[in-house]
Amino acid sequence: MKRRTLLSGAATLTASITGALATMRGAPATAQPLSPTPGGNNALESGAKTMSVEGATVLVTGSNRGIGLGFVKVLLGRGAKRVYATARNPDNLPDVIALDPQRVVGLELDVNNEEQRLAAAEAATDVTWLINNAGTPGTFTAEDRRIASASTLDDAKFVMETNCWSPAELARLFIPIILANGGGAITNILSVGAWFCLPEYTSYSMSKSAAAMMTAGLRAELDREPVLVSGVFTGGVQTRLSPPGYTGGVSAVDHGLEVVEAMSQGVTDVFAGGGSEAMRAQILQDSQAFERGVIERFHTSPLAIAPF
Ligand SMILES: NC(=O)c1ccc[n+]([C@@H]2O[C@H](COP(=O)([O-])OP(=O)(O)OC[C@H]3O[C@@H](n4cnc5c(N)ncnc54)[C@H](OP(=O)(O)O)[C@@H]3O)[C@@H](O)[C@H]2O)c1
Repeated sequence: MKRRTLLSGAATLTASITGALATMRGAPATAQPLSPTPGGNNALESGAKTMSVEGATVLVTGSNRGIGLGFVKVLLGRGAKRVYATARNPDNLPDVIALDPQRVVGLELDVNNEEQRLAAAEAATDVTWLINNAGTPGTFTAEDRRIASASTLDDAKFVMETNCWSPAELARLFIPIILANGGGAITNILSVGAWFCLPEYTSYSMSKSAAAMMTAGLRAELDREPVLVSGVFTGGVQTRLSPPGYTGGVSAVDHGLEVVEAMSQGVTDVFAGGGSEAMRAQILQDSQAFERGVIERFHTSPLAIAPF
C-alpha cells in the first residue's frame, strides 16, 4: 500500500514535470521520461544532423586499448581521413600508429592534464569529430568506490574528474575547432551505469550519470550549430574492464561499428554493446523494481567487478 502510494506520487511528479516542459515548448504533454532515464533520442530534431566517418578527422581519447582501440580500427576501416590516437602513456602508441602510419597520429594525452589537453588542441586543429572514450571505474578498494564506507571521497572525485569534467573540458576546447572545420560531432562514451546507481560502483555511476547530463547540456547549447552531440550508453564490451568469465559483451570493434552506424543516422542516445537495449527496457518497465533488485544483490552477493 505504502509502495503503491510512493509509486503513484512519483508518477504524478514525473507527469507534472513533463507537462510543464511540454507547455513551455507549446507541445502536447506526453509521458516521456527525462534523461538520463533511458528514454531514447532526447533531441527534438534527432536525425537532423548526421556524422559520417568517410573523410572525417577524429580524435579518440584512451585509444591504446579496449573500446578506444576498437574505434581506431573501425574509423580506419570506414575511411577516416586522419585519426588522432591519444593515450596517457605514449609507450602504448606505436602499435596503434602501426595500424596505418599515414593516417594515425599519436598524441600523449592524459585527459586530466590541462597542459596536455591544450597541447592536443594546438596540434589537432583539423579535428571534426571528438570521441571522449577514456574512462576509469575507480579504485580497486571497494569501500572507496562508495560514499558512506569510503575513507575519503578523493577517489570518487578523481573518477568524476576523469569521466565527466575532463571530457567536458575537451569538448570546450574542440567545439571551436570542429566549427572552424565546418562542423562535425562529439561522441561521449557513457555507460548503462548512467541509468541507475550500482552501489558497488557508486562513484562510477555518479560520473557517468553526470556525463550524460553534460552531454545533454552540450547538445542543447549546440542545437543551432552543425555539431552532432551524442552519448553512448555502452553495455557489455569485452575489455579489461570485463569481469573474469563474462561472455555477454560484444567485441570493441563491433561496439565501434554500432556507434559509427548510429552516428551516420544522427542518433543522439546510442544503445551499444551487450545488454544495453534490454537493460533500458527493463528499467523503463519498472525502475523501482530494478533498483530494489540491485539493492538486494548488493546486500546478498555484491559484484566484485562491475559488468561495464
Ligand atoms: N567495457 C565495457 O563493458 C564498458 C561498458 C560501459 C562503458 N564503458 C566505457 O568505455 C570506455 C572505455 O573503457 P574500456 O572498456 O575500453 O576500458 P579499458 O580497456 O580499461 O580502457 C580504458 C582506456 O581509458 C584510458 N584512460 C583511463 N584514464 C585515462 C586518463 N586519465 N587519460 C587518458 N586515458 C585514460 C586507459 O588508458 P591506460 O591504458 O593508460 O590505462 C585506456 O586506454 C570507458 O569510458 C568506460 O567507462 C566500457
